[in-house]
Amino acid sequence: MQIAIDGPASAGKSTIAKLIAKNLKFVYCDTGAMYRTVTLLAKNNNVGYGNVSGILNLMNSHEIKFLNTENGQDVLLDGKNVSDEIRSEEITNNVSQVSAIKEVREKLVEMQRNLANDTDIVMDGRDIGTTVLPKAEVKIFLIASVKVRAERRYKENVERGIDTPLKTLEDEIAARDYKDSHREISPLRKADDAVELDSSDMSIQEVVDKVTEIVNSHK
Ligand code: CDP
Ligand code: CDP
Repeated sequence: MQIAIDGPASAGKSTIAKLIAKNLKFVYCDTGAMYRTVTLLAKNNNVGYGNVSGILNLMNSHEIKFLNTENGQDVLLDGKNVSDEIRSEEITNNVSQVSAIKEVREKLVEMQRNLANDTDIVMDGRDIGTTVLPKAEVKIFLIASVKVRAERRYKENVERGIDTPLKTLEDEIAARDYKDSHREISPLRKADDAVELDSSDMSIQEVVDKVTEIVNSHK
């Protein structure tokens, strides 16, 4: 079974996808982490985020691996665990430029499809239901207002000792949503057969229950 969870930044996709995967004992795949890792690779090597050939060369000469762990997914770049590093503000604010590159998407989509080939999987991202797994049995489009999503990110930042003003986070989220929804290739979009869930006023448990109900109706 394939479960696709798409939606804008900080809608709760990875939180929900991880819990659903854990409950069902499915593999979990965070595709955003893949685009973030390629962005980190560019940063670490002083290659511009818009330098297509430079980024493709780096992807061909470095090893990116994704490991399923008890709590989700770890990302290894040349053997080093970069799961925290890929969440920095620098990466967050530049990942949309890298993820708009056609060749980057082609390579990562191939990896994502291979991962989903022979296992039950919960995959979250922006184009899972529309492009990566168009035949997924369950497709969820998870949304929440920009205000609520900025507040969620604010809370996460505080826990990590980062104090970015709420208004800045709102602007950053809105800017990333715009870029992700307006790029030429596989923009963020609800698949026609996806169920839209607005989590603005829902707790994590309420969203998990709702998604579980949808999954059960497909079993
Ligand atoms: O967790 P958050 O919502 O901040 O973002 P993410 O899921 O980690 O994704 C980071 C970025 O990767 C997104 O803003 C998109 O630019 C890109 N992305 C994408 O283009 N396609 C996907 N399937 C997943 C992520
Ligand atoms: O993956 P995505 O960027 O869509 O979101 P996330 O990384 O899962 O972050 C969502 C944040 O909102 C986490 O800190 C969750 O604890 C929180 N949250 C949620 O995910 N869902 C709710 N219904 C309420 C809060």
